[in-house]
Amino acid sequence: MNILILGSGGREHVFAKKISESPLCNQLFIAPGNAGTALCGENLNIAVTDFQSIKSICIDKKIDLILPGGEDSLVAGITDFIKADSLLNHILVAGPSKAGAMIEGSKDFSKIFMQKYKVPTAAYQTFTNASIADGQAFLETLNPPFVLKADGLAAGKGVLIIEDLKEAQESLAEMLNGKFGKASDKVVVEEFLHGIEMSCFVLSDGTNYVVLPEAKDYKRIGEGDKGLNTGGMGAVSPVPFANAEFLNKVETKVIIPTVNGLKVEGIDYRGFIFIGLMKVGNEPYVIEYNCRMGDPETEVVLHRVENDLLEMLKATCTGDLKNINMQISSDTATTVVLVSGGYPEHFEKGFEIKDFENIENSTVYHGGTKMENNVLLTNGGRVLAITSTGKNMKEAIQKSMQNAEKIQYQNKYYRKDIAQDLIQYNEQI
Ligand code: AMP
Ligand code: GLY
Repeated sequence: MNILILGSGGREHVFAKKISESPLCNQLFIAPGNAGTALCGENLNIAVTDFQSIKSICIDKKIDLILPGGEDSLVAGITDFIKADSLLNHILVAGPSKAGAMIEGSKDFSKIFMQKYKVPTAAYQTFTNASIADGQAFLETLNPPFVLKADGLAAGKGVLIIEDLKEAQESLAEMLNGKFGKASDKVVVEEFLHGIEMSCFVLSDGTNYVVLPEAKDYKRIGEGDKGLNTGGMGAVSPVPFANAEFLNKVETKVIIPTVNGLKVEGIDYRGFIFIGLMKVGNEPYVIEYNCRMGDPETEVVLHRVENDLLEMLKATCTGDLKNINMQISSDTATTVVLVSGGYPEHFEKGFEIKDFENIENSTVYHGGTKMENNVLLTNGGRVLAITSTGKNMKEAIQKSMQNAEKIQYQNKYYRKDIAQDLIQYNEQI
């Protein structure tokens, strides 16, 4: 099969590496890709939402399957675009239609969906500019901290958690008056959940599903989970506090009603579902859905999946997931993300990355990198994800940290506390 992956992060490098290793893969293309994906296939300099150029590539390169990495092309309707074109509609797309991508593209849609299908989630109400006063009154009925969420995609910045009632009421008004552009035309105000976060991942073919390993990511820029939110500074899998009993609850209370609910809604959902969860006591609550895999979660989740990824994706598209028997490694996987100093705010790029050759016992996935005149350069906020496996969390994270230290470039920064909270948890039980 000829494959086209859309995206340019660490997640897409993992996909590219796994797919290039599949005996089913003939030619592999990545648009736009990075210096890491170029080692697995051919990069094409095309934006993920440039559907006309994607169409030309699909025809020229005789593409059989498209894997959209991130949400942008899915929310913009890449799957519908391919299926509506008589020259392209034989192509398999491992990702949901625009209607399915609404589980991520609209917080209001996802909350209505969860309530309708009895998926446990925080109590909430949605407000628009016409109902600001009702929103401010609703805030008065909640206990702090207050959670305000822009309805639409806001580059990961659309959720505000605010301690003070007055400040929350002001922020609600600001959001409804365009703080996040059209994305905050509607705002979800919800109850704050006290618990521990983790994520689970599902592949659905519209009827059948397989459950992938769960993961925990480290979202804040600073050690001890302090500072600004990022795309993710590290991740681990498995998650020690998610035991078999809890994961069983996640499957019965969250995964099954979600997959069935999408079907009842008439959404033929074929692709990944990333479910952000809060474990409150011993109960799972859904914080958010994403219509794709996570980054850097993919780095650890797919390190533990021993199946042929391309075979899984093909089965996802053709409705044959029931024939896939998941093979999950019992090892622990960890990843530590090296970023450009200043990220997630202003940072410089274009610095040479050195000492790659000294890496041992880890796989280095590229995010923001590019090759120029045979020199590897930083080219984004999140630069590399140093991914390792071990018999336990300590062994895996030690390998990732040793290699994170070895790689050199100007303004390198990474969190040195990834997995430490979970190692302590393991030692206490
Ligand atoms: P989201 O974009 O919906 O994942 O929200 C971003 C982050 O805000 C989540 O990863 C949580 O850490 C936090 N968060 C969102 N909703 C809640 C909630 N209801 N209670 C507590 N924390 C939340
Ligand atoms: N690491 C979080 C995400 O991919 O959404």
